[in-house]
Amino acid sequence: MDQPDVTEDIHILLVDDENDFRQIIAKRLKRRGIEVREADRGEKALQMLEDAPVDVVIMDVKMPGMDGIECLKRIKEKYDLLEVIMLTGHADIHGGVEGIKSGAFDYLSKPIELEHLVRKIKQAFHKIQRILAEKEARAFKEQVQQQMVVAERLVALGTMASGVAHEINNPLAVIQDSAGWLQQILEKPDMQGIPRRDDFNKGLERINKAVKRAGKITQQLLQAVKTQTTEMADPSTFVEVDLKKLSEEAITLVEPEAALKNIVIHLETKEPRLSAWTDSLQLLQVLLNLLSNSIQATEEGGRIIVRLNAAMEEAKIIVKDTGCGISKENISRIFEPFFTTKEADQGTGMGLYVSWGIITGLGGLISVESEVNKGTTFTITLPVKK
Ligand SMILES: Nc1ncnc2c1ncn2[C@@H]1O[C@H](COP(=O)(O)OP(=O)(O)OP(=O)(O)O)[C@@H](O)[C@H]1O
Ligand SMILES: [Mg+2]
Repeated sequence: MDQPDVTEDIHILLVDDENDFRQIIAKRLKRRGIEVREADRGEKALQMLEDAPVDVVIMDVKMPGMDGIECLKRIKEKYDLLEVIMLTGHADIHGGVEGIKSGAFDYLSKPIELEHLVRKIKQAFHKIQRILAEKEARAFKEQVQQQMVVAERLVALGTMASGVAHEINNPLAVIQDSAGWLQQILEKPDMQGIPRRDDFNKGLERINKAVKRAGKITQQLLQAVKTQTTEMADPSTFVEVDLKKLSEEAITLVEPEAALKNIVIHLETKEPRLSAWTDSLQLLQVLLNLLSNSIQATEEGGRIIVRLNAAMEEAKIIVKDTGCGISKENISRIFEPFFTTKEADQGTGMGLYVSWGIITGLGGLISVESEVNKGTTFTITLPVKK
C-alpha cells in the first residue's frame, strides 16, 4: 500500500549496542526528516521512554544486559500505542520470530537496507494512526449514544412529569379554594366563640403554606419542560460570545459563594481568543449551575478549574472540581428532573436538567466524568463561530 510521506511527524528510538551501526542508521534516518533518539542498551531505552514516549522503537535483538526480546515485552506491557521493529543478526530468523510472537510489528535482518527500514517505519506509524482514529471514532460514537439514551429518557420523564404537574394543579386549586372557604366561615361572628378556634387557624395556615410550595414546584417543572421541548434555540438570537469573558463573568458571580468556603476558581486557557455563536444568557445560566454544583461538592479550601479548549470546529468549556464526586449509580440519573442528593432546602434537582436542555438546544453536548472522592468534570462542547 502506498503511504503518504509524513516522516517529519514520526518519533523513533533506535536501540543498538553497536555504536557505529546505530549512529550511521540514526544519521541517515534524520536526513529523511525522522526524529531519532538513541540508546545503547535496553535498560536505557526503557528509561528514555519514561521521560518522553516515541511512536516506533527499532531495536536489536542481541544486546548485553537486558536483551531485545525482554525489553520488547516490557515496552508492549506498558505502551499499547507503540510499535517495535526488531533488528536481527544475519540469518537469525529465530530472534525475529520470537520478536513477532512477543508483539513486535516486524523484524529486519542485518545488514539493513535503509529504504526497506523507512518503509517499515511508515507502515508501523500508519498502524498507530489507524488505531488512534478508530479509538476516537469509538469514543465519539459512545458519547453520542450515551447522549441519545439520556435524551430519550429525559423527554419521556419530562412528558410524564408535566402530565403529573397538570393533574396535581387541579386538586391543589380545590384544596386552596376549600381552605379559603373554611377560613371565611371561621371569620363569621357566630364562629368567634367555638372551642379550639386557634388550632383551626393554625391548621389552615399550614395547608395554605404547603399548597403554595406544591404550586411552586409544579410551576417550576412546567417551566423546565417547556425549555426542554422548545428543542433547538432560535439561531437568529445567537451572537458571537467571547467564552473567556463569559466564564470570567460567571466566576465573578459565584465568587462570594466560593469565598464562604475559601474555594479558589481558576480560569485556564491557551487560546488568545475563543468565541462561540450562541445565546450568552442561557450559556451563562449553565455555567452558574455547574459552578454552583462544584462549589457545593468541594471541601473548604478546595480548587475549581474552568478550562477553555479549542478543538477543530468546536469549543470546549470544562468545569473541573476536586469535590466529593458522583457514584456510579447516581451518575446516570443526574440529568433527570428532581434528581438531587441534597437536603430539600439546598437543591431541587433541576439545575442539570435545565442545563442539559439548554446546551442541546444550543446545538452542543454536555457530558460528565466523575470519581467518588476524587472529583467531577463537566464538559460542554459547542460549535465555534465560523
Ligand atoms: N460537581 C458535582 N459534584 C458532585 N455531585 C454533583 C456535582 N454536580 C451535580 N452533582 C450531583 O447531581 C445532583 C443533581 O444536580 P442538579 O444541579 O441537577 O441539582 P441540585 O444541585 O441537587 O439542585 P439545584 O436544582 O439547586 O441545582 C446533585 O444533587 C448532586 O448529587
Ligand atoms: Mg445544582
